[in-house]
Amino acid sequence: MPINVDLLLYNAAQVITCASPTGPKRGSAMRDVGLISHGAVAIAAGEIVAVGSTADLLADYTAINMVDVTDKVICPGFVDPHTHVVYAGNRLAEFELRLQGASYMEIMAAGGGILSTMRATRAASVEQLVAETRPRLDSMLALGTTTIEIKTGYGLDTPTELAMLQAIAQLNCDHPADLISTFLGAHAVPPEYTSQTELYVELVIQEMLPAVMAWWQNLPPDLALPKPYVDVFCEVNAFDRAQSARLLQAGQALGLPLKIHADEFVNLGGVTLAVELGAVSVDHLDVTPPDEMAILANSSTIAVVLPAVNFNLGSHHFADARALVDAGVAVAVSTDINPGSAPCPSMPLVMALACRYQHLLPSEAFNASTINAAHAIGLGAKVGSLEDGKQADVLILNCSDYRQVAYQFGGNLVERIYKRGREVKSEK
Ligand code: NIG
Ligand code: FE
Repeated sequence: MPINVDLLLYNAAQVITCASPTGPKRGSAMRDVGLISHGAVAIAAGEIVAVGSTADLLADYTAINMVDVTDKVICPGFVDPHTHVVYAGNRLAEFELRLQGASYMEIMAAGGGILSTMRATRAASVEQLVAETRPRLDSMLALGTTTIEIKTGYGLDTPTELAMLQAIAQLNCDHPADLISTFLGAHAVPPEYTSQTELYVELVIQEMLPAVMAWWQNLPPDLALPKPYVDVFCEVNAFDRAQSARLLQAGQALGLPLKIHADEFVNLGGVTLAVELGAVSVDHLDVTPPDEMAILANSSTIAVVLPAVNFNLGSHHFADARALVDAGVAVAVSTDINPGSAPCPSMPLVMALACRYQHLLPSEAFNASTINAAHAIGLGAKVGSLEDGKQADVLILNCSDYRQVAYQFGGNLVERIYKRGREVKSEK
């Protein structure tokens, strides 16, 4: 007798599992997407029950909701592990300044950039932040992203940093995507502390971090959110290596997991810091030298590369994701969606960029957007692949070969989205 499940997706041209029961993928394993031709997926109670050939699953399972996906691809929902998607306002004027020759760092040094979004965000209520962010999350979901990390860092004072976290918690409880929060109070030095970076670091350590911890511990059950990460922008004109170390160690002392923005413009040793502190991820890596890639390869820290930033800033220099993969580093990709350096909601576009400018194969870009991205936010055991017992976050793509996702750009092949086994978008 076939077993009854809630949903059976069958007849897929390809099922892309990205399965990796032993942890994130590295090296040649990144070229293996776990492809099953003529495949099927069985789902019950929001979880994946079985993945295999259509012949096998039709023999073993039956469902009230049987969905024939002939000529389509089934794959895991994409995971976007590095975003700044909660903010107010926009940076359209700076976009034009950059088109006329000003650099991102020049605009930032002149009090624009992150600080211009800080001013708009400080002036917004939690409700406004939620209202401005929700359509951006909707765009990300429509493009196949079912799990999203979101950073604070546009408040740079305690009340606004907490308001950003509150907005993330509220969006998490009613948006279909699962959200992970990261406290990035050390994103920039606010104007009140110009030329007093050390004093601002003390404020983050003494006041903000304990306030974040207290906020998280006192969240009502209906707003429950996983433990926030602590992140720092380790960069010239932001926080140096010693300041970054102090900030991250203070977060670690509170039991919070760590992330680092490192090597975006200048190499300040953020990669070795990430490895020394056991950070879950180190992100950007545009100027990371080969010896530090080797150190990263021997660690459990995931490298998150963000090619939409370089593309958006008109740069021809990208993080060398090819060298990172070849060195044995577990590589993930992410949009970094934010109003300045990457106003990009699309993981498929990021995959397209990673293939063209960072020399990843579509298979590597796919694993970097799913299973490795899930590990970059500590959710590798729950999402990021189609494996028995995992959350049923599943996409149906309107193509018969998964490589189309990176091959095409500017469109959207995502036809249906199942979040915890429930359909959240249908083209029908
Ligand atoms: O990851 N590098 C620092 N932070 C963001 C940019 C934020 C902004 O420009 O508003 C990033 O690129
Ligand atoms: Fe960032």
